[in-house]
Amino acid sequence: MKRTIRELVNLKGKVVLLRVDFNVPLDEGGKILDATRIKNELPTIRYLISKGAKVVILSHLGRPDGYDVRKSLWPISIYLSRVLPCSVSFSSTVLGEETRERIKMLKDGNVLLLENVRFYKQEEECDMKFAREIASMGDIFVNDAFGTAHRKHATTYGLGRLMPNAIGFLMEKELNNLNKILEEPKRPFVVVLGGAKVETKIKILERFVEKADTILIGGAMAYTFLKALGRDVGLSKVQDDYLEVAQNILEKAKELGKKILLPIDHVCLKGRDPHPVEVTTLKGDLVGYDIGSRTIRYFARELDKAGEIFWNGPLGMYENANFRIGTRSIAEIIAESKAHKSAGGGDTIAMINLFNLGKKFDYLSTGGGATLEYLEEGSLPAIEVIQEKIY
Ligand code: ADP
Ligand code: 3PG
Ligand code: MG
Repeated sequence: MKRTIRELVNLKGKVVLLRVDFNVPLDEGGKILDATRIKNELPTIRYLISKGAKVVILSHLGRPDGYDVRKSLWPISIYLSRVLPCSVSFSSTVLGEETRERIKMLKDGNVLLLENVRFYKQEEECDMKFAREIASMGDIFVNDAFGTAHRKHATTYGLGRLMPNAIGFLMEKELNNLNKILEEPKRPFVVVLGGAKVETKIKILERFVEKADTILIGGAMAYTFLKALGRDVGLSKVQDDYLEVAQNILEKAKELGKKILLPIDHVCLKGRDPHPVEVTTLKGDLVGYDIGSRTIRYFARELDKAGEIFWNGPLGMYENANFRIGTRSIAEIIAESKAHKSAGGGDTIAMINLFNLGKKFDYLSTGGGATLEYLEEGSLPAIEVIQEKIY
């Protein structure tokens, strides 16, 4: 087991660099559309401030290419200042004078949120010079960014290598809950996979076919698989670089006797016509945005038999009410299932909360790609670098 913040002593007056995953959905005006990831982080922050630490929070938001005001963490500092019982300040940079000055001014038990670490290209390159500069500003590193722990980045993996460290309460809770599924999934184990981050998730799926009994694929993910089978997918979102990987996964599943189900009908748009249509075959200028009604019934038959269900990724573009029915129907079926059921992912949780079904799940994880990779590998790079607990 990794060392947790409970084992850290003499935190009073120490500068704790706390890496979190505040990658939450925001609207155009910076309004937080789903605060689950932030709410789940509050116990760690409250604990650290109660011990008199100076808490400097680092996070990414989205995948910006350099500075982008729409990906600023400023709205999140406003949220934090409303819910925390201490002063919360914000620095518009990560490195440089402003941040150093603000840390110097930070009183014990107060919080400073730094700007999006991904505004610096060194973050994703895991540039150790960048990491060292950040490390020099603090005394201890606490990693609570479970949702980003599969990324070997400067403020996840890099800081873990450079500083005395521990995991926070969210990371601890995630690992405890996911270990139960990892060690003894109930059978049949049905994994539902959708969403749009094909490049991250498909590679994990390649190994996941061994763990799961049945995999139901929807969302944008499905079109790469359908194209790999030689089907016409019209103008739907496809990751052409991964067609071969998709083919391998389908073949491996066949060899192992595992089931992979793909959509058999679709809700789509045709050209510029704003009215959605349901079709069994995509072709020409049709773009698939949701699974159709036959697919819902097809997937439901597998979900009814499941002992364990894990879900990551909306099955359609759920943000638009025209393309929400497939995801909503599957969410309701899973919610009513007798299986042990969990789900994970920033958008997945936002979607489940939108349908008010959160309480029906046994566990909701803040990680999407991270959760899938953890369930597959049993470890993640940014967790591996954290010190073991000493008993
Ligand atoms: P999570 O955050 O839960 O891990 P992802 O980030 O991988 O999930 O994917 C969520 C996104 O996938 C949503 O914004 C949704 O609109 C998008 N999506 C789902 N289905 C489709 C589709 N058919 N075409 C385009 N985007 C889709
Ligand atoms: C997520 O939302 O899955 C995490 O915050 C990681 O984001 P990333 O896929 O852009 O690294
Ligand atoms: Mg997402």
